[in-house]
Amino acid sequence: MSVITLGIESSCDETACAVVKDGREVLSSIIASQADFHSQYGGVVPELASRMHVEAIVPCISEALKQAEVTYSDLDAVCVTKGPGLVGALLVGVSAAKALCEVKHIPLVGVNHMAGHIAANYLTDPSWEPPFLCLVVSGGHSEILLVSDYTKMEYICSTKDDAAGEAFDKIARVIGLGYPGGPKLDKASKDGNPQAYSFPMPKMGDTLDFSFSGIKTAALNTINQVRLKGEDVNVNDFAASYQDAICSILCDRLKKAVKLTGVTKICLAGGVSANSCLRAKVEDLSKKMRLQLCLPKMVYCTDNAAMIASAGYYSFRDGVTDNLDMNAYPSLELGG
Ligand code: KG4
Ligand code: ZN
Repeated sequence: MSVITLGIESSCDETACAVVKDGREVLSSIIASQADFHSQYGGVVPELASRMHVEAIVPCISEALKQAEVTYSDLDAVCVTKGPGLVGALLVGVSAAKALCEVKHIPLVGVNHMAGHIAANYLTDPSWEPPFLCLVVSGGHSEILLVSDYTKMEYICSTKDDAAGEAFDKIARVIGLGYPGGPKLDKASKDGNPQAYSFPMPKMGDTLDFSFSGIKTAALNTINQVRLKGEDVNVNDFAASYQDAICSILCDRLKKAVKLTGVTKICLAGGVSANSCLRAKVEDLSKKMRLQLCLPKMVYCTDNAAMIASAGYYSFRDGVTDNLDMNAYPSLELGG
């Protein structure tokens, strides 16, 4: 008997609902993005995000069920992002999921958003399974995890300061590319020279941890120095050089993590996994080190609910469900 899960995601500025079969087959995936709306403010305004989730959530659920051609009675579990994220935004998804579960007598499964990002790989490659190393890079996270089983993962290393996505977004804003910066920086870099500007690589000793605050400050200093001279940075060259430097750091740590653990399967997860430079570098690394690789499909790199329905399926399969007193947890760690 197949298991049908409904995924609900509202941790940031995307209201998303999806129906997934057996954790792998996406029957529908609806995303109502607020990104264009928030771009006028240069970033997500939490209060406005919550209000927009309230407006979007019910139509989004209905559309996901309709496109998947299922009804409430076909659902085996409702899987919802319970954290990390913006608390007001999370609460909209969590409240909707709880109401649905209470009224329709469906089991509730709270999902960690980052575990969801990792599950994007299961939606991409039907044969992809643990154990593997996953480089998780998003707007708020940069870490390498050893995923030993579908619901078992441990941190190998993480960032000591900023996340890679945040480092992209900040500099993209300063050089005038606007919000959301990562994809715009990626696009601009296509016509740029990655060797045009150089940035200091962080010295972290033997640790595998990341640090992006130094490189971000160096980028800001370079921009200021150029502007003080009455000139402006070449946006495409700057985007290409900065992106190359950050992706080199990420790749270097992934390489060290492979050597440390001996794990021969690697994959990416999170919004920054859509980055073309990172994907190319990781692909290159996998060839040089003869590793098995999964690069999540572009549609599942950034926030979506299919990945939440998939991750939730694996918890549900292990018999893990939540009570209706489940809350939203803005700083939820993996394993929580
Ligand atoms: O996973 P995600 O959609 O939301 C969070 O959970 O944070 O990731 C959003 C982050 C943003 O920082 C965005 O700029 C970055 O992912 N991002 C990219 C690209 N697409 C999204 N960064 C670099 N290159 C991209 N193509
Ligand atoms: Zn995300």
